[in-house]
Amino acid sequence: MNTQVLENTYPAEQEQYSNRVNSLLCEYYGYSPKAFVQTYGCQQNVSDSERIKGMLKNMGYTLCESADESDFILFNTCAVRAHAEDRVFGNLGALKHLKRRNPKLIIAICGCMAQQESVAERIKKSFPYVNIVFGTHVKHRLPEFVYKVIAQSKRVFELSENNLVIEGIPVHRDGDLKGWLPIMHGCNNFCTYCIVPYVRGRERSRDPEHILAEARQMVKDGFKEITLLGQNVNSYGKEPNYGVNFAELLRRINDIPGDFRIRFMTSHPKDCTTELLDAMRDCEKVAKHLHLPFQCGSDKILKAMNRRYTSKEYLALIDAAKQRMPDISLTSDIIVGFPGETYEDFKQTIELIKQVRFMALFTFIYSPRPNTPAAIMDDPISRQEKGKWFNELLAEQEKIAEQNITRFIGKTLKVICDDYGTDGYMLGHTDGNAIVKFKADRSVYGQFVNVTINGFEGTLIGKLK
Ligand code: SAH
Ligand code: SF4
Ligand code: F3S
Repeated sequence: MNTQVLENTYPAEQEQYSNRVNSLLCEYYGYSPKAFVQTYGCQQNVSDSERIKGMLKNMGYTLCESADESDFILFNTCAVRAHAEDRVFGNLGALKHLKRRNPKLIIAICGCMAQQESVAERIKKSFPYVNIVFGTHVKHRLPEFVYKVIAQSKRVFELSENNLVIEGIPVHRDGDLKGWLPIMHGCNNFCTYCIVPYVRGRERSRDPEHILAEARQMVKDGFKEITLLGQNVNSYGKEPNYGVNFAELLRRINDIPGDFRIRFMTSHPKDCTTELLDAMRDCEKVAKHLHLPFQCGSDKILKAMNRRYTSKEYLALIDAAKQRMPDISLTSDIIVGFPGETYEDFKQTIELIKQVRFMALFTFIYSPRPNTPAAIMDDPISRQEKGKWFNELLAEQEKIAEQNITRFIGKTLKVICDDYGTDGYMLGHTDGNAIVKFKADRSVYGQFVNVTINGFEGTLIGKLK
């Protein structure tokens, strides 16, 4: 747990607001206030929340783990599927009684869902006890928003877009061993089902020097695993002045001295190059794990999704990866029931997972999102039918995953020991992100250890080498 400020391009104006809030805070509440941040959605949101927490700490809030005991509640929201939004509205309703109990409670909503005007409008009208709504482009202005609530009794709604990259926002990292490192923001791909490009703006990469500085700092702070984040990390560095693409960035981070592991997500097959696979193979710190979403095995549906690759091209990429790294762990995302998908199309998804044999899959039933092209496509298959296909996919993957995981029995794997188990066991993660349980002294927490796998009981069981 630490708060750090990297090279400071964080607007001076926001620092002033932060200082002003800091001097007003105790007087406003009458005691030292607590803040609670609830994060929904993907790792990008988790990483954004770490910066939001950094700003809240600088303003004088103490972070806490429960909405009940806090004086500032922030929901950092996700819009990728309707279910994500429904949960937020449900949880938002439950905050009403907290506000009644503590009228000085400040409630803020931000993130991908809040970036949509229709959502912000709904919150404005139906949830009058929400004080602040802000979008994904302006999170660095949180101190200004809090100041306006505390000093000027205003309600704040700010959804303006800027497509900027703001450096130097203070960070409060949740973990002490594994940390997130955003390398780019936004997305240009406009897959026809996806809301992300609309709520996160255009793709923009961080300056490699800032990324390297942050990575070096994380290593210095004792982090053992750094996950590079972006919606499509393979297209990192299109900015003309950077001269560093993603493969090169990996090599440079790999060159930072220290004992740590590098992961990255998410990769888009259309931009995944053999140059990147070479870099993965060559860099000893880069986990041999590739999360490469293919979404659907049918070329007709891939085209309708605007994914810009065919299943054959995807399989060729998988072959290229396996050739270079025979033990690579592969994971993927799949959407079941895209508009126009037939059972025959779906069967091609099943064929593809049988061929690739993924370690794990993140599977979703298609959810129409407002203003995306797919939302107005003909979608004749019922939800119930899609549910059946979905279960068929899960059952098939379960078989594959079990066969995949048991192939580790007898092998010795490098594991980062990252959790305490019970009965003298410690827990860790392999390169491929599988969990391993092994007897060890608690002092191995935070270290890389070699574990020889000798069984599988829901998780891999092993012995320290
Ligand atoms: N940028 C990443 C994915 C981000 S969203 C990529 O392109 O791989 C994470 C996953 O959510 C996607 O890969 C997709 O499988 C799923 N997803 C996105 N929009 C969806 C929708 N409208 N309905 C169902 N699943 C969706
Ligand atoms: Fe969405 Fe496609 Fe961009 Fe991923 S690449 S965030 S699925 S539009
Ligand atoms: Fe959700 Fe936004 Fe991530 S929509 S999946 S939190 S980029």
